[in-house]
Amino acid sequence: MTPARWEAVDRFLADLLVQSDHALDAALDANAAAGLPPIDVSPTQGKLLMLLAQIQQARTILEIGTLGGYSTIWLARALPAGGHLISLEADPRHAQVARANVARAGLAGSVAIRVGRALDTLPQIAAEGRGPFDLFFIDADKPSNPDYFAWALRLSRPGSLIIADNVVREGAVAEAANNDPSTRGVRRFLELMAAEPRVTATAIQTVGSKGYDGFAIARVVA
Ligand code: SAH
Ligand code: DHB
Ligand code: MG
Repeated sequence: MTPARWEAVDRFLADLLVQSDHALDAALDANAAAGLPPIDVSPTQGKLLMLLAQIQQARTILEIGTLGGYSTIWLARALPAGGHLISLEADPRHAQVARANVARAGLAGSVAIRVGRALDTLPQIAAEGRGPFDLFFIDADKPSNPDYFAWALRLSRPGSLIIADNVVREGAVAEAANNDPSTRGVRRFLELMAAEPRVTATAIQTVGSKGYDGFAIARVVA
């Protein structure tokens, strides 16, 4: 098993199951043209996010970490009429590219992108009385994942879904002595999830065009 094989299978699955789509292709092109890092979720992962939001019948979604809005577009496509998604992004340049991508996808009416560090914008969202959100997608700076989990819980209701990207990190997550701040943040986040009586949680390893990584998923039960 090699990364080349994972990528070939991901391409096969994406070509077969994820219909090519002008808005998504154009978003990735615009990201590249603007020099954004190519760290969006993959096409098969994006469609998984859409399916999870549909299964959840999510009407309200909070995303932490927008980049160019590729995952945002997938998630927002799951929303019913009147639903909305708020996405938090620290980098104003990323947010600007994302807004154009979201508008091109015809989703400007249901998506709001808020610029600022999420630990600054999350308290504003709470103060505005927004929420509860039906689904959270945590995909920003990984050292803050423990804080993002606490905010997601605070802005949730029983039945909400909390999804986090990049929790395996080529296996580094299983190294107890690993000192990388992102790996430590993800480990702490998983430990908090495990110890939190208000959620039922698991995590899944993935391979594919994004290498070897994984998702965590938690359902708020109380
Ligand atoms: N969810 C996107 C990828 C997000 S990449 C997708 O799959 O398409 C992570 C993003 O988080 C980057 O755009 C980065 O600028 C942003 N970010 C980093 N630190 C942040 C913070 N403290 N608050 C909000 N966003 C942050
Ligand atoms: C990085 C961040 C991500 O969210 C991701 O999915 C892949 C890579 C990064 O910061 O390198
Ligand atoms: Mg990610």
